[in-house]
Amino acid sequence: MTDTTTPNGAKADKDRVLIFDTTLRDGEQSPGATMTHDEKLEIAEMLDEMGVDIIEAGFPIASEGDFAAVSEIARRSKNAVICGLARANFKDIDRCWEAVRNAGRPRIHTFIGTSPLHRAIPNLTMDEMADRIHETVTHARNLCDNVQWSPMDATRTEHDYLCRVVEIAIKAGATTINIPDTVGYTAPRESAELIRMLLERVPGAGTVVFSTHCHNDLGMATANSLAAVEAGARQIECTINGLGERAGNTALEEVVMALKVRGDIMPFRTGIDTTKIMSISRRVASVSGFPVQFNKAIVGKNAFAHESGIHQDGMLKNKETFEIMRPEDIGLAGTSLPLGKHSGRAALRAKLKDLGYDLADNQLNDVFVRFKALADRKKEVYDEDLIALVADEQTNDAYEHLQLKKLRVICGTEGPQEAEMVLAIDGVEHKIDATGDGPVDAAFNCVKMLFPHQARLELYQVNAVTEGTDAQATVSVRLQEDGRIVTGSSADTDTIVASVRAYVNALNRLIVRRQKTAPGEDVKTVSYHRQ
Ligand code: KIV
Ligand code: ZN
Repeated sequence: MTDTTTPNGAKADKDRVLIFDTTLRDGEQSPGATMTHDEKLEIAEMLDEMGVDIIEAGFPIASEGDFAAVSEIARRSKNAVICGLARANFKDIDRCWEAVRNAGRPRIHTFIGTSPLHRAIPNLTMDEMADRIHETVTHARNLCDNVQWSPMDATRTEHDYLCRVVEIAIKAGATTINIPDTVGYTAPRESAELIRMLLERVPGAGTVVFSTHCHNDLGMATANSLAAVEAGARQIECTINGLGERAGNTALEEVVMALKVRGDIMPFRTGIDTTKIMSISRRVASVSGFPVQFNKAIVGKNAFAHESGIHQDGMLKNKETFEIMRPEDIGLAGTSLPLGKHSGRAALRAKLKDLGYDLADNQLNDVFVRFKALADRKKEVYDEDLIALVADEQTNDAYEHLQLKKLRVICGTEGPQEAEMVLAIDGVEHKIDATGDGPVDAAFNCVKMLFPHQARLELYQVNAVTEGTDAQATVSVRLQEDGRIVTGSSADTDTIVASVRAYVNALNRLIVRRQKTAPGEDVKTVSYHRQ
């Protein structure tokens, strides 16, 4: 096994595994997970602060919005290497370089699909593709001294051809070779064997960092990534919460915590401050509109909950009976007392700090007003309530075209249900009533009548934040219009109010997307596989 090089090329310790986060590129590519410019900047800052080595900030040629976000993230970066994605052509690579060049430590990541199925798309012969790889990696390396190259669908590429193209990329100057399991097809033993084979057979393999990039279609992304590391890979590509297309990418929190907890059998280190995991997980869930499943490893709501009697008994006697890591290790505050309506601003600030939220004064004021209103309706305000409240507050964009002003619904065993609504559209209030098949349907019909649109409701999901009939509901809504997919979310003790706010929030995002892209121009719907 060779020494690992740092993202800048300097020699580093051989057991250090670089964490390459692609939440803002592969994660954001997930239909509906689109983030706003400011949200991307905020997530990038959090990633940098938690010690991510390389942040893949986006795909600069894909749209003006992507370019602007990558450029700004590059400009603001502190420690992390900032990377942009580019297909195997000069135009993509030049645009990518333009976006990342202002980073303290820029990287160009260029790729091409090398498996038989992917070679057929640009209709290149093996030799033609090999030439293309040589030309494009050379071009990227002439611009930037930190170049990553990926043979997309590597795990379904013929081994001889894979060795040949990896060698070409190394000779052309690539400093990192990333091996993607694009369709989540590989299994741990195979993932390890592939890395081992490349390290053994490819001349010059010892001079670059090998990286693993796994998708979770068969639920093996974490295992495959760790197996690759054991075989010699020293960079893991991953996303927060495992966000990503289809079943997602390798989850950052899973590989990082697995390496930390099982250092006895996997003696590798990352530079991640694991106490920052929980807060970034919550923020990514909130801005992407992809809630974390309750039983998700590390960051799921139940990951540290020991409900059954036998577990609780064991936990009380000795925490290690059932706990292999401490909640504090991932930044989860130990259980503390809920707040109530007499709690003041200082108590709220302290509690939010414990939960990982360091809010600016004006944000804290807004949250405080909402907290008081919630505490009036709910006897005890739990951590989960506050998290939902802050997420809701942060979801509201600075300027909202549509704003729910008033809502009244009439429900009963006899349908149809009725809703009466006042909705402000660009500051002008409009009133209407409508009926529907249930109160949510009636309320959504009001919105549709006041703001006619063709967007299709693809997902409507309600979760209770805590237990009890006074619990807040968090609602997520996904809409689709002409290939543009947006999500909206909201929380309230009134499920119907939360539903309408989530719907209106999604429509506000759709309006912004319409202004930015003409139909069909939306990059997130343009396959990045196209050359
Ligand atoms: O899954 C994949 O192959 C990718 C590449 C662009 C690295 O995301
Ligand atoms: Zn991918």
